[in-house]
Amino acid sequence: SSSRQFFVGGNFKMNGTIDTIKDIVKHLNDAKTDPNTEVVIAPPALYLLLTREHLRPGLEVAAQNVFDKPNGAFTGEISVAQLKDSNITWTLLGHSERRVILQESDQFVASKTKTAIDGGIGVILCCGETLEQREAEKTVEVVTSQLSAVAKQVSDWSKIVVAYEPIWAIGTGKVASTAQAQEVHAAIRKWMGKELGEEAAKKTRVIYGGSVSEKNCRDLAKEEDIDGFLVGGASLKPAFVDIINAKA
Ligand code: G3P
Repeated sequence: SSSRQFFVGGNFKMNGTIDTIKDIVKHLNDAKTDPNTEVVIAPPALYLLLTREHLRPGLEVAAQNVFDKPNGAFTGEISVAQLKDSNITWTLLGHSERRVILQESDQFVASKTKTAIDGGIGVILCCGETLEQREAEKTVEVVTSQLSAVAKQVSDWSKIVVAYEPIWAIGTGKVASTAQAQEVHAAIRKWMGKELGEEAAKKTRVIYGGSVSEKNCRDLAKEEDIDGFLVGGASLKPAFVDIINAKA
């Protein structure tokens, strides 16, 4: 983990108002954040511009989703070019809430990842298993097949950050143990070595998401293959700064 820059993302999901997002941004702007950690926050689409306008330089903004077509008759969607036009340099893709609730397939996530990477924005690519899949010992198979769909379409992973988010740990307060998380992160890195090459395996950040808090982040951050976090609920709170500084 030492050679990979620590990365902490905040996924606001469908939360916030103009006032509360301004407050969060002000708190981050005023905070002492570890200069060695890359920080990216993902507000709802409606607040991307507001966030970018107020957030201090050096802290980046991500969309929570992007479409895989350049422009045109796609009601409700946003393009990669529109994100770039707005100085939004990252997007989340493949979050389990979109895979499950909006029924996004591995192929659709892969197509959107390709469009984002080809268009020059970074992708926080989420993967993760259900509790049922974990209990059936299918975790590594599920996660690597989600990633394989992307590897079929994208060969350059230098602007991809993989977020491992076990679905049973999201918003539940039930964090994966450090050993459980490390085990899957190591398996993802092993898969990368085989499918993308040793260089990509060494350089690609694999971050953990699922009930990360200011209490558990330091222990998780000690694990060899945990290169940061994707934080939901806690990213809306002042304690997000403690998570950003988990390595400091
Ligand atoms: O994308 C982050 C996420 O799904 C984790 O959410 O609220 O468990 O930190 P939370």
